Amino acid sequence: MLCASRPFSLVIFGASGHLARIKLYPALYVLALKKRLPKDYAIVGYARSAMDENEFRKLVEDAIREDMPEVTEWALKSLLEHVHYQQGQYDDLADFRALGERLGNIEERWKKTVRLAYFSIPPSVFPDVLENLSKGGVHKHKEDNDFRCIIEKPVGSDLESFEKMRSALLKCFKESEIYLLDHYLGKEAVRNIYYLRYANPILERILKHSLMHHVEVTAMESAGLEGRAGYFDAVGTLRDMVQSHLLQICALLTMRLEKEEEVAASRLHALQQLYQPHAATLDDLLIQGQYAAGTIGGERYLGYRQEDSVAKNSRTSTYVALKVMSRSSRWEGVPFFLRTGKRMSRKETRISIAFQEPHAIGKGATPNRLDIILQGEAGMRLHLQTKLGGTDPEFRPLIMNDPLVCMGDCLPEHGLLLLEAIMGKQQWFLSFEEVRAAWQMIDPMQKHLDQKSTKLCLYPAGSSGPDEAEDWIEKQGMTWF
Ligand code: BG6
Repeated sequence: MLCASRPFSLVIFGASGHLARIKLYPALYVLALKKRLPKDYAIVGYARSAMDENEFRKLVEDAIREDMPEVTEWALKSLLEHVHYQQGQYDDLADFRALGERLGNIEERWKKTVRLAYFSIPPSVFPDVLENLSKGGVHKHKEDNDFRCIIEKPVGSDLESFEKMRSALLKCFKESEIYLLDHYLGKEAVRNIYYLRYANPILERILKHSLMHHVEVTAMESAGLEGRAGYFDAVGTLRDMVQSHLLQICALLTMRLEKEEEVAASRLHALQQLYQPHAATLDDLLIQGQYAAGTIGGERYLGYRQEDSVAKNSRTSTYVALKVMSRSSRWEGVPFFLRTGKRMSRKETRISIAFQEPHAIGKGATPNRLDIILQGEAGMRLHLQTKLGGTDPEFRPLIMNDPLVCMGDCLPEHGLLLLEAIMGKQQWFLSFEEVRAAWQMIDPMQKHLDQKSTKLCLYPAGSSGPDEAEDWIEKQGMTWF
């Protein structure tokens, strides 16, 4: 069982921000509850807001209570005892020196400490923070100590900005100190794509291009902007969801099966094999949408352009669907249809693999299909056919269904990834090469979406996306499952 067995200091930059509140503090609480944290550790919030330690602890506590259906008081109390706050600007070296001194005091008696800097801040302030971490003595502290810098996806906003960020990071840190985080790679269900293949040789036998018809990867959300309009409106859903999360799901499905230690290299290879096939126009491969007002679960929601902090004429897409393929021989010729959108009817992340029908089956039959549902009603469904009683060959679907709920010792994705970062386990973090391969694929698509002449199709909140996306996939001879 993986535990943080070394003392560590985790500095969270942007400690009062959205990501820290909804993901990091609840994840740290679960680690405390499951006794996965060492005796000596510190969580140091760093932000510009003026706050004293007690106010910050209250913020952390509130975030945990809001997120957790039930809170175990001893675990919360023990976590809060390790929480500290350091106010500072991101561009002020003196503030970083003060942070370095503070960390030095906290860690004074600890041996083999790991210091982690978690960037929960807008990329515009990265350069200042990187430079000041080095110059302010937060990075290089003691000889036998280690340092990690954790950055959430998307790394950059296109290939060019990614390369700049990569150089800036490598100027300050060694590659082994840089942890690029895609939280989907911390989800048990997402990792399980690899383990399902690894543990079920029978699956590997049927995942062959000669047997498969096509693959659909869907990531729909009923959630909207959740107070992140400033970030999202500049980024859009292709960069926010497809660039890392969906491409990683495709990589885990199509990669060569290697030992878990080799999983990063395998993912990279699989990503490099993904491509968009030739088409007369990119409109044949890619379609975008934006949600209008609508109803989800009986509740009315505003349209995207009516949301706070979104321009009334914003062309940012909240939905995209696209077609990609893989050059890997096992998947050759099998089209992948990816779609993702905000404010759709429900939350569901699913891979559906449709199989070929080598001969006409009969009335009532639908093609065999395997669904791996990662989020939502997580489960695995194998769609088979069975004959109805009677003298005519008529069929009905037989769905073998097992819930894929997390059984066993499940940790929240940020908790698992934090543990791994503390312990220096890097294979479920992104490498620079993976991020580069993803941007190389995404950049031309994003350019196409950004052109005024590219259609932006509206869909009502609570629907399954724009009607045009139904027509688009029908033109390819398929329908969304
Ligand atoms: C984040 C995106 O990376 O993933 C969000 O920035 C999105 O826009 C979220 O809502 C979805 O994550 P999850 O874990 O809820 O599927």
